[in-house]
Amino acid sequence: MQQAVKVVGIGGSSRPGSTAERGLRVVLAEAARLGADVSLIAGADLVMPLYDPRAASPEPRARRMLAAIAGADGVVLASPAYHGTVPGLLKNALDHIEQLRDDERPYLTGRAVGCLAVGQGWQGAVTTLATLRDVVHALRGWPTPLGVALNSATAGFTASGECDDPHIQRQLNEVAAQVVEFGEAHRALRAAAPTARAAVPTSLTALQAR
Ligand SMILES: Cc1cc2nc3c(=O)[nH]c(=O)nc-3n(C[C@H](O)[C@H](O)[C@H](O)COP(=O)(O)O)c2cc1C
Repeated sequence: MQQAVKVVGIGGSSRPGSTAERGLRVVLAEAARLGADVSLIAGADLVMPLYDPRAASPEPRARRMLAAIAGADGVVLASPAYHGTVPGLLKNALDHIEQLRDDERPYLTGRAVGCLAVGQGWQGAVTTLATLRDVVHALRGWPTPLGVALNSATAGFTASGECDDPHIQRQLNEVAAQVVEFGEAHRALRAAAPTARAAVPTSLTALQAR
């Protein structure tokens, strides 16, 4: 039987229980229900020194996040909108992923990444979601087809943790399903690696030769 896919959720703000963190927890709960092995980096876990390319080794919080990402088949990012974009706290944590450049799967290579952005209005939520997806592309990850923008002026979370807007709740569940499905497919692809991967450059070369 195939081992459970690993999904790490990263995000929220330094305030434990922020709206973005609550949304992130919904996605992770659904991923766990679908059989994933999930972990969470949120709140104080995000507070890391400013990323310094000269630093020889990451400090403990960055190291924990990097180990979780390196071992993950899928990632979920959740960000509040701060002045229309991803707050420095979260962007700094993501900048530490530079340390994975020489990894076997560099940066976010081969991982589906579900993105959620929360603003106190639609404009900030949507621009922040687009930025998150751009960052994922830059880190060589695969943003899931569906991303979620949540307007905290019109939606929140119940005491049991669900989103009180059923449409957003369904979207969060769908993002979880897309991350898990891609994670399982990519893991199977890696297991069949020598043949499957070798076929890609060959067909690309054939296309370029036309
Ligand atoms: C410094 C700061 C800047 C913010 N800028 C925006 C913004 O540009 N657009 C927006 O919709 N909401 C903005 N907000 C509101 C947050 O996005 C919103 O309150 C948050 O996502 C909800 O999370 P919370 O539960 O931590 O408050 C800002 C909040 C802070 C603290």
